[in-house]
Amino acid sequence: MAADSENLLKIMAKITLDIFRYDEQTDEVPHRDRVTVDVPETTTVLDALENAKAEIDGSISFRRSCRSAICGSCSMNINGVTGLACKTPCNTVMRSDGSIAIDPMPNFQPMKDLVVHMDPFWDKYTRLKPYLQPSDPDDSHETERRVSPDDMKKLVDVANCVMCATCYALCPVVSVDPSFAGPAAIAYAYRFIEDVRDGQTKERLGQINDDYLWLCAHCYACSYCPKHVEPHERIINVKQRTIRERVDLDTPGPRHALVVNKTIKQTGMLAETEVIQGTVGRFNIKGLLKVAPLGLRMASRGKLPPVFLKPIPKVDEVRTIFEALEVPTLS
Ligand code: SF4
Ligand code: SF4
Ligand code: FES
Repeated sequence: MAADSENLLKIMAKITLDIFRYDEQTDEVPHRDRVTVDVPETTTVLDALENAKAEIDGSISFRRSCRSAICGSCSMNINGVTGLACKTPCNTVMRSDGSIAIDPMPNFQPMKDLVVHMDPFWDKYTRLKPYLQPSDPDDSHETERRVSPDDMKKLVDVANCVMCATCYALCPVVSVDPSFAGPAAIAYAYRFIEDVRDGQTKERLGQINDDYLWLCAHCYACSYCPKHVEPHERIINVKQRTIRERVDLDTPGPRHALVVNKTIKQTGMLAETEVIQGTVGRFNIKGLLKVAPLGLRMASRGKLPPVFLKPIPKVDEVRTIFEALEVPTLS
């Protein structure tokens, strides 16, 4: 078996790296270079790039350090999907013509070739104060702050985040609205919100709400996290905690979640008219006037949802699910 894997490693391949090239200091527009390397086909995209840099063109620029999916530096777009180059074997992504397209991460400004400006990502992370803020600061640092294994379990996965920004690059909401905190920052906020040693839970929830937590569209694109942090799940957890702690409840995001829950629990269906009113705010005349033209257009095309919905025949079963899941409702 060991001999088989050794032979497999020795299968050499000619791989053409189709690389995005750009230098913000000198180039007005980017171009592409195709560089062919002779490497074992199971080698990683990062090692193929290293080979190209060492043997063919020393000016190819990219970030890397550990080669072991630990430092988070080598995130890039590989055939249109962002991931860690050191964790991506060439033979899993090679196209039928033997080439691999390599581009900088989307949602970032390119600096040089595959190196991007990471500032917006780090700014959003820093805003969260990503360090423990206990309510009883012990300036002498003499007291041990203990956490039970059960409490620690919640933090282990998210503590594996290597800040590679893969999730941020994959997020369609970041690409249309750069004010959105993004999946990594929210997952890291969760790491401190759920830490029993931290004393700033409400302040942290308030901050992440200010950073547009509720803009997440739950598309699950960020589930492709190379370290299994599952940021999309952490976003759901933070939203749930926001509602449980009643932080900024009277804002469109939480109002939307609560009114959706309420109408489904009452009728077994989504009462869209009520959801729009509930999200905008029943007494928010300015906001309601803003959505009125949409309602009129829908009405003119016969697409206005019914104002009153009769509960579906087995609505009790739906309510039982809500109770079992302990879904928070409007009080
Ligand atoms: S959550 Fe995952 S994909 Fe996002 S920065 Fe952390 S390790 Fe990378
Ligand atoms: S689930 Fe939310 S945070 Fe994740 S990629 Fe989609 S919109 Fe972005
Ligand atoms: S080089 Fe460190 S994560 Fe890829």
